[in-house]
Amino acid sequence: MRHLMNPLDFSVEELDRLFDLANDIEKHPENYAHKCDGRKLATLFYEPSTRTRLSFETAMLNLGGNVIGFADATSSSAAKGESVADTIRVISCFADIAAMRHPKEGAAMVASQFSSIPVINAGDGGHQHPTQTLTDLLTIRSLKGRLDHFTIGLCGDLKFGRTVHSLINALSRYPEVHFIFISPEELRVPDYIIDMLKEKQISYEEVIKLEDRIADLDLLYMTRVQRERFFNEEDYVRLKDFYILDAAKMGMAKPDMLVLHPLPRVNEISVDVDADPRAVYFKQVQYGVYVRMALILTLLGLEE
Ligand code: CP
Repeated sequence: MRHLMNPLDFSVEELDRLFDLANDIEKHPENYAHKCDGRKLATLFYEPSTRTRLSFETAMLNLGGNVIGFADATSSSAAKGESVADTIRVISCFADIAAMRHPKEGAAMVASQFSSIPVINAGDGGHQHPTQTLTDLLTIRSLKGRLDHFTIGLCGDLKFGRTVHSLINALSRYPEVHFIFISPEELRVPDYIIDMLKEKQISYEEVIKLEDRIADLDLLYMTRVQRERFFNEEDYVRLKDFYILDAAKMGMAKPDMLVLHPLPRVNEISVDVDADPRAVYFKQVQYGVYVRMALILTLLGLEE
């Protein structure tokens, strides 16, 4: 039995197979409409979500399966003090696979240790968000045709943004990826990630102004300032609009630069960018369904 806690849980070769499967699902959805007949997915969401939970549920429904779960910890027995370990033991009696989002780092890992069904980490605190990374990688691979030899700018809250941490981890395994980290001083990428890049001799830069480097980017990954992880509101208010990507800044970018964003967006991408063909953040959401379908099939051993 396999779980997914971190994008590095899959080798590069396994990811290639997963993305090939996702692309086949995109082309031939009818071939997959009954692959999970009689199976159940449990979505255990202790933190708010629109995309991830509904994307997982859509993925399972598209595969012919069913879904159970909760979208709010206050409506579950967590509100009475039940531990994650006990909850997953119970859910293992009801479902065949579970996706868990939790505000505490490592919560999904704890669940996996007590589970008798595959557990997918759907976001644990400011730590990792592996299925968002699978979504990001599938989007890049499908639209750029490769996952290597590019310069990617990651912009915004690089300290608390778990999608950023997972994506850097995942891309660090592909050749000739140059990272440009664009953030205010207070929201710099954590030291443990910088140490990992140094150890692997992967090239990176840290800058503050987006305008200084946007012209050099093949990919721009925008992120929201993570209000829920700030210790005080004053700091959040000071930093929340530090970056706003607008049509004027897009005018400085390469004609084939892609703009990604895990969403939800607040103010960091102006709506006047949405009609730009380089803005692919809503296409990204669709790729998220295909890759979660491929992941469910793979973890349930139904991919053949
Ligand atoms: N990208 C993402 O995780 O969105 P949700 O918080 O809406 O699930």
